[in-house]
Amino acid sequence: MPAQQRSASRTALGVAALRAAHQRIDGEPKLLDDRISEKLVDRETLERTIERAAVPEALALRVRVLLRSRFTEERLEAAVRRGVRQFVCLGAGFDTFAYRQPDWAHSLRLYEVDHGGSQSAKRASLDEAGIVRPHNLEYVAIDFESVSLRDGLKASSLDFTQPTFFSCLGVLVYLSRAAVDEIFTLVADFPPGSEIAFTFATGQAMNSEAARRVENMGEPWRTHLEVAALSRDLARLGYGPLEMLDLAEAGRRFFRERTDLLQPPPHAGIAAAIVRPRSS
Ligand SMILES: C[S@@+](CC[C@H](N)C(=O)[O-])C[C@H]1O[C@@H](n2cnc3c(N)ncnc32)[C@H](O)[C@@H]1O
Repeated sequence: MPAQQRSASRTALGVAALRAAHQRIDGEPKLLDDRISEKLVDRETLERTIERAAVPEALALRVRVLLRSRFTEERLEAAVRRGVRQFVCLGAGFDTFAYRQPDWAHSLRLYEVDHGGSQSAKRASLDEAGIVRPHNLEYVAIDFESVSLRDGLKASSLDFTQPTFFSCLGVLVYLSRAAVDEIFTLVADFPPGSEIAFTFATGQAMNSEAARRVENMGEPWRTHLEVAALSRDLARLGYGPLEMLDLAEAGRRFFRERTDLLQPPPHAGIAAAIVRPRSS
């Protein structure tokens, strides 16, 4: 692994490698068209990921990682159509949306929020690959466990009075319950029409092989959420209904005519919720 990537979250690099492997080994159409990810992942990590690509657990994780980005980017596009002009990517890791942004995203202000360590590793990899920071992107270094997210974001140019789209993919499970609650509370304070797309793990997933693997990587899973309680908590905070990725629809859209190994996952834990209008 190149020296500049050693300060990065290992799980962030791991999921970037899954997206990169998708470009190399899976068929068309891609679940996520992400050529940039190949430029951010070192050759050794990518080769190791490709070697394990057909292992059922690795295959299922790859599909979930691809679907969560696809789901989020489609939700973001819909949010832009209803007038949202700010996108905050919480725990951005090696997410590449900002560097391959489609035309509809050019009206957005983009914010990538992450640990300083992951962020500097990513920026070094981008520099090395000659990928220029887009004019509409700002980096915000925050440790969700030690700095208030609100204060951290206040130090950026983010406008708290404007509807805003947040993503939080593969992140909540690594945080304390207090940090998870702070994220949902903060987003709910943004104007109606603001939205958060996120992933979560249920109690059952906490005992999985995937949980053991990331624990061995030094990034243990800490917080799980259950759909019924989460729906209630979000409603109490001022969100509309919890909208889970519809796996049956995803199966019809993305997997019906594939000739590669990709299959719809049995469960995904991918969801979104929109801040509802305040009742007077
Ligand atoms: C599994 S990675 C997911 C990265 C990215 N969202 C993606 O889907 O590719 C988890 C990310 O959460 C970030 N993270 C974990 N704990 C954090 C904390 N306490 N404060 C800030 N970021 C954190 C890590 O740095 C890492 O980038």
